Amino acid sequence: MRKDFGAKPFLFPQPVMIIGTYDEKGKANAMNAAWGGIVGPDEIMIDLSSHKTTDNILLQKAFTVSMGDEEHMTACDYVGLVSANKEEDKMEKAGFTTTESAFVHAPIINELPVTLECRLVNVTDDTKFLGKIVNVSIDERVLGEDGELSLEKFSPITYDTVHYGYYRLGEKVGNAFKDGAALK
Ligand SMILES: Cc1cc2nc3c(=O)[nH]c(=O)nc-3n(C[C@H](O)[C@H](O)[C@H](O)COP(=O)(O)O)c2cc1C
Repeated sequence: MRKDFGAKPFLFPQPVMIIGTYDEKGKANAMNAAWGGIVGPDEIMIDLSSHKTTDNILLQKAFTVSMGDEEHMTACDYVGLVSANKEEDKMEKAGFTTTESAFVHAPIINELPVTLECRLVNVTDDTKFLGKIVNVSIDERVLGEDGELSLEKFSPITYDTVHYGYYRLGEKVGNAFKDGAALK
């Protein structure tokens, strides 16, 4: 037997995206976003209602997306609870420091090791922000011996849309484009 839940946003693992933007004075901000993901090899789409972040994106036509990780889980949740419209010291309270991307006018959050640097392509239905990924920068401390991102060293968290928890990703269980060949 299966139980029906109706229309729900259940698709796991759901990313924890921390969006970085600059305001009109060049002040950095960050917010947490769940509704979105990769929609092409160099494209990302995020569903955003009205926030300081969306004002910033529309102004600068740029944003960054960093993955929330276990080490910074509390800060990542905090930037999803509090708006820069109400808290001037939001970034300081989160413990986030930033460096401007060399590719787009948007801040890289130094504490989060993996960042997609994006140019705004367009906004559809007033809420769906499509970004072109123009660069990905990764802190060397989470690179493996092959020079690529290592999920042994980096612990992104995933958002549980059922009970509102954050979970760490688990162990490697297989090899893509390979293990299925056993059934050919
Ligand atoms: C786990 C989590 C997921 C969220 N996902 C979204 C989202 O997908 N879209 C959205 O518009 N807001 C989302 N929010 C809410 C914003 O992060 C929140 O309103 C934030 O304070 C906006 O900050 P800002 O006004 O400084 O930009 C989420 C918050 C949390 C905690």
